[in-house]
Amino acid sequence: MKFFIDTASLAQIKEANDLGILDGVTTNPTLMAKEGIRGEEAVTKHYRTICETVNGDTSAEVLSTSFDEIIAEGKKLAAIHKNIVVKVPMIKDGVKAMKWFTDNGIRTNCTLVFSAGQAILAAKAGAAYVSPFIGRIDDSNWDGVELISQIAEIYTIQGFQTEILAASIRSSLHIVKCAEAGADVCTCPLEAILGLLKHPLTDIGLAKFLADAKASK
Ligand code: G3P
Repeated sequence: MKFFIDTASLAQIKEANDLGILDGVTTNPTLMAKEGIRGEEAVTKHYRTICETVNGDTSAEVLSTSFDEIIAEGKKLAAIHKNIVVKVPMIKDGVKAMKWFTDNGIRTNCTLVFSAGQAILAAKAGAAYVSPFIGRIDDSNWDGVELISQIAEIYTIQGFQTEILAASIRSSLHIVKCAEAGADVCTCPLEAILGLLKHPLTDIGLAKFLADAKASK
């Protein structure tokens, strides 16, 4: 399973990248706004910096919702760097645009996916990635990880090549559960990735090893 970081913060991207286990980055308009990145020039520059920092795919989301505008915006985003994947919402014009991008050699990440039916449509349109938002599904009293399992089963049966990118990850446990459920990628906040490191027995064990080594000197 690949690890992407879900942020537009360069500091967090660098910290995750320094661990050596980062495979890519996802952003969205909310995350860009949180970092104060506004306007086409600033957005373009920011994506270029991310792509030059991380050796892997970076999802850049379109803000348009009509076919012609999604195509125009997606083409500009894709031209920023070879690692840019155009993130397109799961709407009717979005599906049509994703098929166009697929036919024209531009990779897409279908975002705002909340059902298996939407995941089937994304795969039919040739999306490189489909992004089910598992945390938001949990928030609405459904089981987000269950959706990952369902999509994984359907994609295996049908031989779809689209990679399942579990998004809206809220915890380290989500990452483990998504790995079990067959996600190809987890895009995570930095804290969820770092949370995987933690176990009290590791800390206790290390303290004892170091103390015993010091005592025997
Ligand atoms: O990038 C999409 C997704 O990861 C959003 O997460 O926490 O806003 O539901 P969240």
